[in-house]
Amino acid sequence: MNFQETQSFNLLKKHKVFLDDFSIMDLFNQNPARFEEFSTSLGDIVFDYSKNKIDKKALDFLFKIANNLNLKEKIQDMFNGVKINTSENRAVLHTLLRDNISKNIMVDGVNVIEYIKLNYQKMINFADDVQKGIYKGIKGDRILDVVNIGIGGSYLGSKMVIEALKPYKTPLINFHFISNIDSTDLTEVLKKIEPETTLFIVSSKTFTTDETMTNALSAKEWLVNKLGEKAVSKHFCAVSTNKKEIAKFGINPDNVFEFGDYIGGRYSLWSPIGLPICIAIGKNNFQKLLDGASIADEHFKNCDFEHNIPVLMGLISVWNVNFMNVVAEAVLPYDNYLKFLPMYLQQLVMESNGKSVDRQGNFVQYQTSPIIFGDEGTNGQHSFYQLLHQGTENISCDFILPIFSHNEVGEHQLKLLANGIAQSEALMKGKSKEEAFDEMVSQGISQDNISKLLPYKEFKGDRPSNTFLIKQITPETLGMLVAFYEHKTFVEGVLWDINSFDQFGVELGKQLAKNIVKDLKSDEGISKHDSSTTGIITMVKALRNNK
Ligand code: F6P
Repeated sequence: MNFQETQSFNLLKKHKVFLDDFSIMDLFNQNPARFEEFSTSLGDIVFDYSKNKIDKKALDFLFKIANNLNLKEKIQDMFNGVKINTSENRAVLHTLLRDNISKNIMVDGVNVIEYIKLNYQKMINFADDVQKGIYKGIKGDRILDVVNIGIGGSYLGSKMVIEALKPYKTPLINFHFISNIDSTDLTEVLKKIEPETTLFIVSSKTFTTDETMTNALSAKEWLVNKLGEKAVSKHFCAVSTNKKEIAKFGINPDNVFEFGDYIGGRYSLWSPIGLPICIAIGKNNFQKLLDGASIADEHFKNCDFEHNIPVLMGLISVWNVNFMNVVAEAVLPYDNYLKFLPMYLQQLVMESNGKSVDRQGNFVQYQTSPIIFGDEGTNGQHSFYQLLHQGTENISCDFILPIFSHNEVGEHQLKLLANGIAQSEALMKGKSKEEAFDEMVSQGISQDNISKLLPYKEFKGDRPSNTFLIKQITPETLGMLVAFYEHKTFVEGVLWDINSFDQFGVELGKQLAKNIVKDLKSDEGISKHDSSTTGIITMVKALRNNK
């Protein structure tokens, strides 16, 4: 069953028509306590959702829809290891990686907690040794550069978190990422490192991803050319679920870190996939990151829907997307260190919920995942915010505002915060023609010019946004924030009745690329394609062969 099939859907639809007569500003004018009533908090994070066109009645209907769809039970199912990823017949247990409470979680008759703890311990011991310089390279040197070779979920989490927690990072080790199959990615990293002091982490859940394996083999070749075959066992480690493929690659079993297939790639930064994070910020801070996520997990599992941040995030997103014609959500962190968060959330949200077939195998009759995009704070203001304010599409924004910077200088932080706060106010309030007129009069603009400019100076406003006020970005608050987004994605998946945990949509392009590689290498003709694809392949071959 999806949200449209519940009893409350039609009532909510009717209520939406009633709300159409009001602006978000009207809702504030009607209720002086709106901020208090439409915001909630957990620890050092406040979630303000008052700047959405939503009222208590609409929220109540959304809670009823969630209840009709057994959201509470479905949350428990995920935490309890039920195989909710039905298309791949897998449990979904990333929450277990940060769980210090549960004693038994059975998957296929096995209590997986012990296995998770064992691998966690192995990873943190190794990370600790690398960070402290106890782990040495083949020539006895300390490790100065860690290179993560991985893509998607085996890349974005580590990249995002290491940047987000830079103030906690060891200054003794540099971190690099090779993800793209573009050899420039590899070459530029290799230029910066010395083989004797480098540790490569081949990070791949499947250990078969073409980009990662191609990059790993090239990096291995580079290392072997410099230090000989024996160096591989000291300078390579692997994180994966696929022991067989790791063995083929020739990695020392002591340097292999495993996790189960019930950890999805885009949900895996808490697993040994987070090894680079653990080396970067140390085992204690890594544990605090997990603890933050665990606080969000307990809240998601136990808190009533009215105060449950991820439930509210998910329901409001569905409200905006399916009732308010919101097509995209902008993630707007006002913190330089969070610059990779939008990119990370693009995979988390769009790979999870960018689906058009429901759990019964039928095409859905409603919009699913919005497009996720964003950029850090004021940089975005000088580019795509124009569209947010005056474009034709309705886009909802998440403003992420840490109150304290790790680098307080003069008035910078106050100005940064003021900008973030002002943007959410401007998007909601807009500027009427009358206000624009008065403003131009006060600026001494001629009547003629005022008439010409007036249509362009109006801001319709009434654009929805959420604000996260966070005391400071720390391992705990970051862990909470990321887990909130994971669970928001889950809630949306339940309402849309889709499986948020598979990703068959990424397969087709990969398969076709394999055929095209054959075409590009072949001395003979090429396989059958449309005329555009044939034309492009033919031109590429001709130009590359004539160079
Ligand atoms: O192609 C998509 C995907 O399967 C993601 O879901 C995953 O995070 C990424 O590729 C990398 O996969 P792996 O960790 O198996 O190399």
